[in-house]
Amino acid sequence: MNKLEKEDIQGLLIRGYGNLPSAKYLLYTGTQREQTLEFIRQLTPKITPASEKPANEAFHLAFTYEGLAFLELPAAVLDSFCREFKEGMAELHRQFVLGDTGENAPQHWDWGNESLHFILLVYGKDENQLNETLADIRQLSDATGITELHALPTGLLQGQKEHFGFRDDISRPIIRELLPDLPQEPDTTFPAGEFIMGYDNLYNELAPSPTVPPQMDPKNKLPEHRDNNNLKDLGKNGSYLVFRQMKQNVPTFWEYMKANSSDPSAAIGLASKMVGRWPDGSPLTLCPFQPDPSLSDANDFGYWEDDKAGLKCPIGSHIRRTNPRDHLVTEKSRKDSQEMAAKHRMLRKGRPYGPPLSPELDPEMIMQSPDDGQERGLHFICLVTDIRRQFEFVQNNWVNFHKFGGLENDADPVIGNHYQNERRKTDSFSIPEYPVRKVHPNLPNFTHIKGGAYFFFPGIRALQYLTDYE
Ligand code: HEM
Repeated sequence: MNKLEKEDIQGLLIRGYGNLPSAKYLLYTGTQREQTLEFIRQLTPKITPASEKPANEAFHLAFTYEGLAFLELPAAVLDSFCREFKEGMAELHRQFVLGDTGENAPQHWDWGNESLHFILLVYGKDENQLNETLADIRQLSDATGITELHALPTGLLQGQKEHFGFRDDISRPIIRELLPDLPQEPDTTFPAGEFIMGYDNLYNELAPSPTVPPQMDPKNKLPEHRDNNNLKDLGKNGSYLVFRQMKQNVPTFWEYMKANSSDPSAAIGLASKMVGRWPDGSPLTLCPFQPDPSLSDANDFGYWEDDKAGLKCPIGSHIRRTNPRDHLVTEKSRKDSQEMAAKHRMLRKGRPYGPPLSPELDPEMIMQSPDDGQERGLHFICLVTDIRRQFEFVQNNWVNFHKFGGLENDADPVIGNHYQNERRKTDSFSIPEYPVRKVHPNLPNFTHIKGGAYFFFPGIRALQYLTDYE
């Protein structure tokens, strides 16, 4: 097993910074190349490596393809990036792959559809620390003529919840190389190459990575490509960062649950069927009739053994679509399902934004709270080495596919865009029940895309190369 080069890996790949609850995501575009390079050069020493556990602040930097082209990377280097990254999230064909059509189409986004060069993710131990850090960064951006397009706020919510009132961030893939002494369970641990370039992935191949011809690295900053010593590995220790700003319509979500249930407790039951976990995080598969607080961190479960039909956790629920674990109807065995599902995992690193509708995030209280007209949602972020096989596959084949798992007109009830295709709505949610299933019709969209982009999240040596390759 290869050792991770933690001092060269940006720390977000192995940490979530729960100890740094304040954060802002700054979206930039450069005006002049030289000045932009200077800005990045000055920021590079501040970038937090995975070898450090920061106590006060952390910084991470990632680039769009347009940003790398603006920095005038040689064509041979630009060409070596994967197609999805080069085309970008807002590209016309991609709108259909991701379901970003109708009201979710990029022309309605607040950002991501205009010139965007890079993103800086800044984390602080508290708001004061964050504001001080941001003031320093703004001085630097003003001095170098960089335009801050947006400063996206974030705010962690009580009890590790997201805005609908459900506990989030429970199921996380574990990188094998980080825990070499643990038993290597194939369905819960993953080779680093699934998330970090320059290491073997699940196919026992080096994760695909952008490269540089050696003559374009005269200062010899980059490591050799392991499988091709005629190339330098620009991707080594980097990743792709997928960002989607998803507005959550919390009053609409709970209005629907109330309107389709006999009482508040049944409304919470219906919402939990849609998520696949109870609000406290306990998985429906392990406790189908009521939440069990002792299971709120539980992640060691599957569907094959005793929930193939989805009587406990509906096949179309959010967690069962985004990670079908050991049961995919397209696969013949439990093992095949596990292997298939494993190839489509992501490291989720997003944070909520906006004020909670009810501070405790208790669904009963949220249901009683009047619409305050405020915007809130999730800055969904995930890190992957293969945008198409991991993020896009899940979004296209599992989240939005109306026939997922043998269903007919359903998409992910929580995040699906149900009105993306004029010919076929996907606005049903089916709950398998014996003897006949229950179908909830006319689901509104509970989330809306407000912006998004694909970024290259380089290793630290690669970051130095980007600003100094001539
Ligand atoms: C506003 C948007 C979203 C909300 C409110 C949301 C909410 C949740 C919640 C409550 C969980 C359960 C906690 C856990 O298992 O860790 C979860 C899990 C998950 N979500 Fe989302 N999510 C959103 C967007 C997305 C998107 C865009 C994707 C990817 C396309 C995604 C992929 C996943 C995955 C992979 C899991 C873990 C499933 C498992 O391993 O069992 N989510 N989400």
